[in-house]
Amino acid sequence: MTAELKNDRFLRALAREPVDRTPVWMMRQAGRYLPEYRATRAKAGSFVALCQNPELACEVTLQPLERYPMDAAILFSDILTVPDAMGLGLHFETGEGPRFERTIQTQADVDGLASPDPEQELRYVMDAVRTIRRELGGRVPLIGFSGSPWTVATYMVEGGTSKNFSRIKGMLYDQPAVLHSLLERVTTTTLAYLNAQVAAGAQAVMVFDTWGSILTPKTYLDFSLAYMQRIVDGLTREAGGRKVPVVLFTKGGGPWLEIMAETGCDGLGVDWTTDLSEARAKVGDKVALQGNLDPAVLYASPDVIREEVRQVLESYGRGPGHVFNLGHGIHPEVKPEHAGAMIEAVVELSPAFHD
Ligand code: CP3
Repeated sequence: MTAELKNDRFLRALAREPVDRTPVWMMRQAGRYLPEYRATRAKAGSFVALCQNPELACEVTLQPLERYPMDAAILFSDILTVPDAMGLGLHFETGEGPRFERTIQTQADVDGLASPDPEQELRYVMDAVRTIRRELGGRVPLIGFSGSPWTVATYMVEGGTSKNFSRIKGMLYDQPAVLHSLLERVTTTTLAYLNAQVAAGAQAVMVFDTWGSILTPKTYLDFSLAYMQRIVDGLTREAGGRKVPVVLFTKGGGPWLEIMAETGCDGLGVDWTTDLSEARAKVGDKVALQGNLDPAVLYASPDVIREEVRQVLESYGRGPGHVFNLGHGIHPEVKPEHAGAMIEAVVELSPAFHD
């Protein structure tokens, strides 16, 4: 199995093993900034229909790899497939982001949630993983993912993207037991979902904690990190004779990097508000780091992009353990050539940082 992978830089970097150059991929690399993505989405009819069609989800997963020398593919899906399968009814209003038909406000709502079987209700995701692995033919590893239980719960309670998270924060302070029971349910489902992705062929796993940073230091530990810890503890960590690394990413999680590194994960995502040299000093050789170019740099000209890439590489410094990425998802307005300039700069400049 191992011999089948032609480019394993990404997996080697997460294991903090030597590499010839820093591996690179981009959060949201398959997305609206690519005209070919918009064309496939139109063919599918909607974003949700695209996620639910394994052949078309495979097509858009591979699109960025056809354009750029990426070192990893990421499953095309969404973190909100899980609450949808738990019974909340996901849809996307054009230009308005995700909305759920039903939300969670009470213990009775939590008790009414379904416990989906990943190979039944979420079979379309597993079929996408299997299709993508087949079509990748070992070119690069495939990353599977989920949201963190906390981040997924924010959507389940708020009903969509929120400005001030009044409902879930109200629940956290007023009815912590209800929120913990919701987080328990989401954690159990997420763990089964991620392990099914690994069984279907995902070669690494990333947990997106987009909204962890709205919490206080204490509530972050109790309501977000504690549940990510359970995911790290319960994940299948080996498949096909190779380690399956897990990366945790709390956006705005700079203050918690040391404690996140204690979970036993392999890598931490870092956004652009934390300097990689500081992050590296904090985590030592416990985990690899993934990040952290400000996505807004891609609005600038290719020369500026190249210089900013150099600064991120310098900030991490020499040696293994760095996966180059943006500090968050690529914006839809970015010109594809500018994403290309970033990747080219990593390919050209990063060998100097390795022996
Ligand atoms: O990275 C990749 O290429 C894989 C695909 C991926 C998507 N969503 C596709 C998507 C991944 C990893 C996600 C994760 C995700 N989804 C997160 C966590 C990561 C993060 O960005 O913080 C969150 C919070 C969501 C929920 C979600 N999905 C929102 C809030 C939105 C609307 C916001 C927006 O950008 O419009 C989505 C939609 C979504 N997910 C799109 C894509 C490509 C755009 C939908 C479209 O094509 O119209």
